[in-house]
Amino acid sequence: MRIMLAPMEGVVEHHVRDILTRIGGLDGCVTEFIRVTDQKLPYRVFYKYAQELEHDSKTPNGTPVKVQLLGSKPEPMAINALELVQYGAKSIDLNFGCPAKTVNSHEGGACLLRTPDRVYSIIKAVRDAVPKEIPVSAKIRLGFEDRSTYMENASAVESAGANELTVHARSKADGYKPPAYWHYIADIKAKLKIPVIANGEIWTIDDYIKCREQSQCDDVMLGRGLLSCPDLARQIKAHLNNEAYEPLTWAEICQMLFDYYKKTTPLYDGRNCGNRVKQWLMYLSRQYPQAQLFFDDVKRKSLPYDIEECFLTALSGCKI
Ligand SMILES: Cc1cc2nc3c(=O)[nH]c(=O)nc-3n(C[C@H](O)[C@H](O)[C@H](O)COP(=O)(O)O)c2cc1C
Repeated sequence: MRIMLAPMEGVVEHHVRDILTRIGGLDGCVTEFIRVTDQKLPYRVFYKYAQELEHDSKTPNGTPVKVQLLGSKPEPMAINALELVQYGAKSIDLNFGCPAKTVNSHEGGACLLRTPDRVYSIIKAVRDAVPKEIPVSAKIRLGFEDRSTYMENASAVESAGANELTVHARSKADGYKPPAYWHYIADIKAKLKIPVIANGEIWTIDDYIKCREQSQCDDVMLGRGLLSCPDLARQIKAHLNNEAYEPLTWAEICQMLFDYYKKTTPLYDGRNCGNRVKQWLMYLSRQYPQAQLFFDDVKRKSLPYDIEECFLTALSGCKI
């Protein structure tokens, strides 16, 4: 009954993985995708996306991190996957779900789901290139234009030798619009022998229970739900174990966000320094009404001094 943290490009970088895994309940993470074209990528690119490479491919609290590659050509994918392993990656994940136009126009991500044989070739090349003890996994959607190719793609993943499959229960055309079609995953689970992880639209403990019932999967992956409720995995585990658990308060979340802001500000140039925090606040506002108020206050602020003032106001509001 594993709970994994979803890869989220532009959002879930190593600081966020550290924060969320420290809160607890998570059994594994995946990096944002690293785009592979024709070249062998230099270490600095791998390190940018997977700083955990320097720490046995684990977050500071010891949670394993898979490194995700996205690309459409088997050979460069295989070369870069092997390179990653030589740099210390312990597990490789391959992205077949990204809906972005820039990625799809280069024949990467979800558009590969139109051609299951290409999904097969990429996974097979990577599987053949990296040592046997290194797991290779894939993350797919249910299809591209529609959901009709879900089983062909899932079977291609398994027959190419992947060790695990995560399924985001929507097609590319479905975008991120609810619902997620978890029952399709149950068909895949029934047919495949490798572990299948269900993903999509889990925001609450109740969603988790429904997803497990409908997908027939023991393992799930949480994305936006964890950003809106950072201790969702912890809440779920407490629920499963019949343990008492007090969900995080807004004051605790706000302090956590402030610490994240202080740690990451030096990494962004002046006017962009608050962007990541604003983005996270948008997700948090689904769960915490105070996050919306904070967002309204901070959204037009771009100077570090002003943003810090907003934090201090929000934090002092928590004490009233
Ligand atoms: C902003 C954003 C970035 C994402 N980036 C990636 C990515 O780099 N690799 C990937 O496989 N999926 C990516 N996804 C998809 C998520 O991993 C996940 O499959 C999707 O959000 C559905 O799960 P959720 O409803 O729990 O959020 C991204 C999703 C979002 C919203």
